[in-house]
Amino acid sequence: MKIPALQAVTVEILVDNFFDVFEPSRPGIVERVIPGRLKKPLLAAHGLAYLITLNHRGKLSRILMDAANAPLPLFNNLEALEHDINDIDAVALSHGHPDHYGGLFEFLAKRTGGPIPVYLHKEVFLPKILITPRGRIGPWVLSLAQLVVANVELYENQGPQLVLDQALLTGTVETTTDYEKPLPSFRRQVAGREEQDLFPDEQALVANVEGRGLVVIGGCSHPGIVNMVKYAQKLTGVQKVSTVMGGFHLTPGGDELIKHTIQGLKELDPELIMAGHCTGFRALTKLAVAFPDNFMVSCVGTKVMVVGG
Ligand SMILES: [Fe+2]
Ligand SMILES: [Fe+2]
Repeated sequence: MKIPALQAVTVEILVDNFFDVFEPSRPGIVERVIPGRLKKPLLAAHGLAYLITLNHRGKLSRILMDAANAPLPLFNNLEALEHDINDIDAVALSHGHPDHYGGLFEFLAKRTGGPIPVYLHKEVFLPKILITPRGRIGPWVLSLAQLVVANVELYENQGPQLVLDQALLTGTVETTTDYEKPLPSFRRQVAGREEQDLFPDEQALVANVEGRGLVVIGGCSHPGIVNMVKYAQKLTGVQKVSTVMGGFHLTPGGDELIKHTIQGLKELDPELIMAGHCTGFRALTKLAVAFPDNFMVSCVGTKVMVVGG
């Protein structure tokens, strides 16, 4: 599927699990926020929300990818970073876990103006359950009925889907690595029956920047971040990878998964790897050691800028 070569992509991390004032910037590529200059303090939270700005021949389109775990961090940080929610042109959802849509309905309710396009996989609406060492949590349900009446233009996909004709949602990720396996702790309900969640509803958002290559943005990357990047390459026909971002959900999969994923990322050879959210501290530290020059932790307020040329 052909996607346009964009002049630039900027990803601003609105909500993520981390904030660390000592994480460095990288001039022209990664810009960290200076807390003392903000209108109000940023909040880190177990959730994810990105503000993605696509520049296509000077025309800017803004996509909210995921909507955090709750309205509080989402709206606090939008205000701290001085964004107007009415400047956002579309919403895309990475998958149907509540730490990615917790602020969605409030976001939709607070907007003014016409319907906003919302892109998501058909299966995000199935009830989701998590088995933890301290018991079951859930089911969580994102309500389709509530969304339909929320002033949206709904785009439900299963396969690849263009977003505003400029970026791509992969649809269900084709899994090709032998080490990225679904974890048994994730379950879902289908027609009243519970089953292991293989995450057909999780998709990456992919943009192609002229001369730089792909920017691949995952949510929790439950199907495996290497699978997601490889599938993005296959769908777009673009092999060069500029940036890989997201929660990578690696620590719960154990050291073997972390080791193989690091090897897989080395083979993909991106210019920048920025992981946060559900990656887990142990995996983050191993990634930091494995990629001393191009790994960075995803902190709230950070801007990643990929400029073509
Ligand atoms: Fe998550
Ligand atoms: Fe998740």
